[in-house]
Amino acid sequence: MKRLVVAIDGPAGAGKSTVAQLAAKKLGYTYIDTGAMYRAVAWKVLQQQEVTDERILEVIRDIDVDLHYAEGRTTVTVDGEDVSAAIRTPEVSAVVSRVAALGPVRTKMVDLQRKMAKRGAVLMDGRDIATNVLPHADVKIFLTASIEERARRRWKEMKEKGYDIALETLKKDIAARDKADSEREISPLVQADDAVLLDTTGLSIDEVVARILNLCQ
Ligand code: DC
Repeated sequence: MKRLVVAIDGPAGAGKSTVAQLAAKKLGYTYIDTGAMYRAVAWKVLQQQEVTDERILEVIRDIDVDLHYAEGRTTVTVDGEDVSAAIRTPEVSAVVSRVAALGPVRTKMVDLQRKMAKRGAVLMDGRDIATNVLPHADVKIFLTASIEERARRRWKEMKEKGYDIALETLKKDIAARDKADSEREISPLVQADDAVLLDTTGLSIDEVVARILNLCQ
């Protein structure tokens, strides 16, 4: 069977990583979470007090970001340190769009992402996978859901992690991130012309995974 390259893009909180991970497991593919890579850069920037463009550019010059996917779990390391949990905090979410908007950051990450996808049998999720990173992907999916549903899902996820954030705050955060990611100059979040739109509002995780697997057949 052909080792497909599957690209899944979509806005924050659409459930990309949850369903992409499950679909990758079923297919026996490697899952590549590109958002985690930008988060890893943002995490390192946050180790210093001040977040400035200069500081971000300094960090990107010699950062070593690595993703390791095994047994359905992604481990993210920065300069050898496991930051898999540390990159999921509200502090990182608050600065990641700014970090991801800078050209040198994207150039380095996209280069890494293309290398990771080279052997095929990968499912990669992000914002610009179908439009920029892997324009020749075999399957392209644009995954979205209403902002209310995305905020509710993120709220549940954060609650399980012990964060008590108001739903309205999360809704505002997600809307701000959507706006920043969609309006940035370099590789903005946009549905590729040849991508299939999958609106997951009201669908269960299993239903979404089934649709993705269907598209891969
Ligand atoms: O998927 P996520 O929420 O973990 O992504 C974090 C941020 O990284 C998101 O706000 C935009 C950015 N990102 C990007 O610019 N390009 C990608 N391919 C993936 C994520």
